[in-house]
Amino acid sequence: MKKRVFSGIQPTGNIHIGNYLGAIRNWVASQDEFDNIFCIVDLHAITVPQDPKMLHTKIRELAGLLLACGIDMEKSVLFVQSHVKEHAELAWILNCYIPMGWMQRMTQFKEKSAKQKEQVSVGLFDYPALMAADILLYDTDVVPVGADQKQHIELTRDVAERMNSMYGDVFKVPEPFIPKVGARIMSLKEPTKKMSKSDEHADASIHLLDEPDAIRKKIARATTDSLREIRFDENRPGVNNLLVIYQLFTNKSQEEIEAHFEGKGYADLKRELSEVVIEGLAPVQQRYAEITRDPAFIENLLKENADKVRPIAERTVSRVKEKIGLG
Ligand code: TYM
Repeated sequence: MKKRVFSGIQPTGNIHIGNYLGAIRNWVASQDEFDNIFCIVDLHAITVPQDPKMLHTKIRELAGLLLACGIDMEKSVLFVQSHVKEHAELAWILNCYIPMGWMQRMTQFKEKSAKQKEQVSVGLFDYPALMAADILLYDTDVVPVGADQKQHIELTRDVAERMNSMYGDVFKVPEPFIPKVGARIMSLKEPTKKMSKSDEHADASIHLLDEPDAIRKKIARATTDSLREIRFDENRPGVNNLLVIYQLFTNKSQEEIEAHFEGKGYADLKRELSEVVIEGLAPVQQRYAEITRDPAFIENLLKENADKVRPIAERTVSRVKEKIGLG
């Protein structure tokens, strides 16, 4: 029996190379090894205001992009969270077992709520309970994510262990998988902040569907420093980030890369990096154009895939209800 992987991604903003290098690429690479379920988390998206038409469009666009990145329907399931109502049902139950104090410690809530001020919804606060439900519904072994999701997975493990100790085996306790390189791709403009879908600075992120010229411009404008040497060094976040992106797109070692750029300047690094990123994204963009030619294809695929995983989710919710005495 293969171990089960579950991971999710929000259909908001534009998918960027941080999502790709920190998560999606690893999902694709380990598809043969695991039994994989990937979820477009639209219920998470509405924790902040969304335009209905745009949200509907973004869900389909994201599905197309994930397929274009190499998520393979022979090996993985790809579905939309709101198509399987058990996500909301289990989230409610978990809510009743998660102490407020655990939620109040979530750094992502603190960051996101600081941006929104008095508009912050209860859903945004409760976001980690829904994420725990996503993971626990499918008896997940491994959750491959970027570093920003680590705390949410720890909370998932904590609530699973808490309910297991109260009622006996209710849930499988999942492990995070966070890559050694690429778990935190930084903003090109402010390299001490992570690259983010909601960044209002247009040059901060490279999107998967960016045209070659846009990629060249964004990298040319990326923040570096006043030093000269091109070396991996976390104390020089701008240059370090560009080198990490270069490393992930070329699959070369740090030593090889430092030797390659010996004696060269930042303009050379930026020029070469641009070409490497453009070349790396070209096949994804080509496949995306082919896949989205027939919108009915994605529509049917998402429906069929939700039908595949729903029975697993239903079984888990029945088991949980029985254990805790509901119904
Ligand atoms: P989301 O949509 O923000 O991001 C999707 C994935 O991309 C990773 N990521 C990054 N990795 C490296 N560098 C970055 N700058 C960067 N930005 C984002 C994220 O860590 C994530 O793996 N809460 C989740 C979605 C979710 C989920 C789940 C994930 C909902 N339910 C269950 C796993 C399991 C989120 O907002 O991801």
